[in-house]
Amino acid sequence: MTQNNDHIVWHTHAISRSEREQRNRHRSFILWFTGLSGAGKSTLANAVEQQLFALGCHSFVFDGDNVRHGLCSDLGFSEADRKENIRRIGEMAKLFTEAGTIALTAFISPFREERRRVRKLMEEGEFIEVYCACSLAVCEERDVKGLYAKARAGLIKNYTGISSPYEEPENPEIVVHTDQQDLTESVASVLEELRSRGLIPR
Ligand code: ADX
Repeated sequence: MTQNNDHIVWHTHAISRSEREQRNRHRSFILWFTGLSGAGKSTLANAVEQQLFALGCHSFVFDGDNVRHGLCSDLGFSEADRKENIRRIGEMAKLFTEAGTIALTAFISPFREERRRVRKLMEEGEFIEVYCACSLAVCEERDVKGLYAKARAGLIKNYTGISSPYEEPENPEIVVHTDQQDLTESVASVLEELRSRGLIPR
């Protein structure tokens, strides 16, 4: 999307992001969950957020199914629309980090290039990619929303994993095998990684 931004001036905030982070007693960053539909992204993001909340952290979960009802309700699942979906989420998540919040995002985000673009919006170490690795067979077997069956029957076009690609992350900060680990283990491994990176207090 090309826009003419020549006459738009960026305003500096009176309160800086680091002042907000100091008051919150944790860093703000993006925790980006990616993986196939049914891999457990939203479940894991929400479970991690519950722990963060209990620790007193300021956070918010963005979820594909919810955001597509509002901010991205004009977008479908063509390659161009998915790219625009991720671009908007990335910008919004970044704004949340500027507000001192930990932004957890749970979108398939199937394309490496779009995830890389969001990473580049952030400073080094402020974009934590969590790959929810789960075989297609297990996702299909779970088929929580019944959409894989519809995709197999040809009723849904461009379905990720069936008729549209999913590009696995090459160097994610965290990998959770949601078809092998249970939720408690996955949550613990995410939190430990955040602690060891100094993003949340011990
Ligand atoms: S993304 O590819 O643009 O990142 P997003 O995470 O927002 O996707 O939305 C994925 C959710 O939309 C899936 O969990 C599923 O419930 C639903 N969905 C509907 N149509 C499709 C499709 N063609 N491919 C993948 N998911 C779809």
